[in-house]
Amino acid sequence: MTESIIVTGGAGFIGSNFILQWLAQESARVVNLDCLTYAANPGNLASLSGNPRYEFVHGDINDRALVNQAFRHHQPVAVIHFAAESHVDRSILGPEEFVRTNIHGTFALLEETKIYRNGLHENDRQRFRFLHVSTDEVYGSLGADDDPFSESTAYAPNSPYAASKASSDHLVRAYFHTFGLPTLTTNCSNNYGPFQFPEKLIPLVIVNALKGEPLPIYGDGKNVRDWLFVEDHCSAIRRVLHDGRPGETYNIGGGSERHNIDVVRTICRLLDELRPDSPFKPHANLIRFVTDRPGHDRRYAIDSTRIEQELGWKPQVTFEDGIRATVAWYLKNQKWVNDVTSGSYRDWIDIQYAQRAGADASGVKS
Ligand code: NAD
Ligand code: TYD
Repeated sequence: MTESIIVTGGAGFIGSNFILQWLAQESARVVNLDCLTYAANPGNLASLSGNPRYEFVHGDINDRALVNQAFRHHQPVAVIHFAAESHVDRSILGPEEFVRTNIHGTFALLEETKIYRNGLHENDRQRFRFLHVSTDEVYGSLGADDDPFSESTAYAPNSPYAASKASSDHLVRAYFHTFGLPTLTTNCSNNYGPFQFPEKLIPLVIVNALKGEPLPIYGDGKNVRDWLFVEDHCSAIRRVLHDGRPGETYNIGGGSERHNIDVVRTICRLLDELRPDSPFKPHANLIRFVTDRPGHDRRYAIDSTRIEQELGWKPQVTFEDGIRATVAWYLKNQKWVNDVTSGSYRDWIDIQYAQRAGADASGVKS
């Protein structure tokens, strides 16, 4: 029988990019376990329809009977755990779902993984891996001159999202030390690229600019994120899965720190160039400074020395190339954009940005 891996959350942004890359580069089958929240889009994987190496299982990681059944049926050699609530602003307006999926869901998945692995023959038990996909946001916020986050930086999460991911990281660590589950954890910086839901900064700005709608910049726009093209993140995960040391964590970053305002201006310039006939040109005129996010982390930056030196991974795509490819992808995939921005998306935008309208650059409402 061909080997399988189970991917959780594979209908979301990074998970779907990962599955497409995996099936192009690796031999094992993929079983995608996803409960299809608002952030999911099975259409991302439409090209896999009829592919015998891909199977979708509609289910919640909290549903232990379903997870147990998936393990027994597919006998995976590894689990790659992406499933999560992932948007900081939603965690501020409604943190409960973050606790349910990111903490309870990860716990349920770990328990079922432990039970399944304990039933394997010795060789299979030794080979099995559980890879937990996490974020740099667990480390909190850096000052302008602070060293980037390393794997030994103390956890200091500031948003409910970051706190729920930090909790899940601790559970994963405990299952390695207490139960010997061969876990690997990756803490990655901000991703961007095709299939990202337009609630996150980069796709939101592209989608709004194309419609001539305001481009909301929180606070003074000087917050810094370390941007990584999603395909580089996916290749890093594969590298850690194959060669990482069980029990370890690996930081993954793009080495591309940018102020938010500079990211948005870059997108505007690209749209001016790629849509020369747009009535909204110059798109930078759509920029609006709005009320800041509560507890807004000032700066994230990643020290990727461990994954680079131990596993020989480095990002391949520069920010300039990646952002150009991303803008071009959204321009080319207007149907995808229309599909994901119909229905409840509008409600989110209304709730989220109504309260932020009319602030000046200091985040003070005018
Ligand atoms: P996403 O929000 O686009 O997708 C999440 C997916 O998980 C969706 O398909 C959703 O349906 C699924 N899901 C949610 N709750 C579930 C549940 N209870 N059971 C089964 N499936 C469930 O997220 P993303 O941006 O692709 O992020 C994936 C992972 O990577 C997350 O764990 C996130 O914390 C982590 N991460 C993201 C970034 C980033 O910049 N997006 C950076 C670092 C780490
Ligand atoms: P986001 O894409 O939500 O990722 P994260 O909060 O996980 O880093 O936001 C990236 C940065 O952009 C963050 O500093 C918040 C800021 N931001 C805005 O200025 N305006 C927006 O409308 C959004 C969604 C984010």
